[in-house]
Amino acid sequence: MIQHNFSKPWKHIQHLVLAVLLFLGACSTQNQSDNESASITAKESALNLKLAAGKTLYESNCAACHDSGSSGDPKLSNKEAWIGRMAEGKEVMTKKAIAGIDGKIGMMPPRGGNTSLTDEDVKTVILYMTSQINRCEENTSVESPVL
Ligand code: HEC
Repeated sequence: MIQHNFSKPWKHIQHLVLAVLLFLGACSTQNQSDNESASITAKESALNLKLAAGKTLYESNCAACHDSGSSGDPKLSNKEAWIGRMAEGKEVMTKKAIAGIDGKIGMMPPRGGNTSLTDEDVKTVILYMTSQINRCEENTSVESPVL
């Protein structure tokens, strides 16, 4: 256990830095005190809840195409198919998923064909999808999930 001899204000900066690292999805090992892990755990569980909701929505509305890739649809597991799209950012991806896509690869119906999905639902699915595309161990060059 490393002893920290930092004064109080510096501690706050440490919190900030750790929070930023977390939100950037940094893969580095974090060397943190118990207090710091407590504040991070709260943020992590909020994120995890969203990701879990996104996963459920994804499985029932999007997986049919994005898991199979059967008609050339970009498979979630195919990172190369997503790097360019990730570079556009989650907002653009969300807008396109809401509006539907008539793209080079194929057709995606608005909201994946489920018109009862709200914009927020689609946003939550995109959060989940980008978290899957951007698994640390496999690819650190693209954007990370941010709430
Ligand atoms: C009927 C098949 C189908 C379903 C269902 C489907 N997609 Fe897609 N999706 C596609 C295809 C095909 C593309 C690629 C279009 C292209 O670029 O030519 C695509 C592309 C995308 C993209 C990339 C957009 C970009 O920025 O280029 C996102 C994000 C996306 N889908 C999200 C979703 C979400 C979220 C759902 C579920 C709510 C979903 N898709 C359901 C077929 C589908």
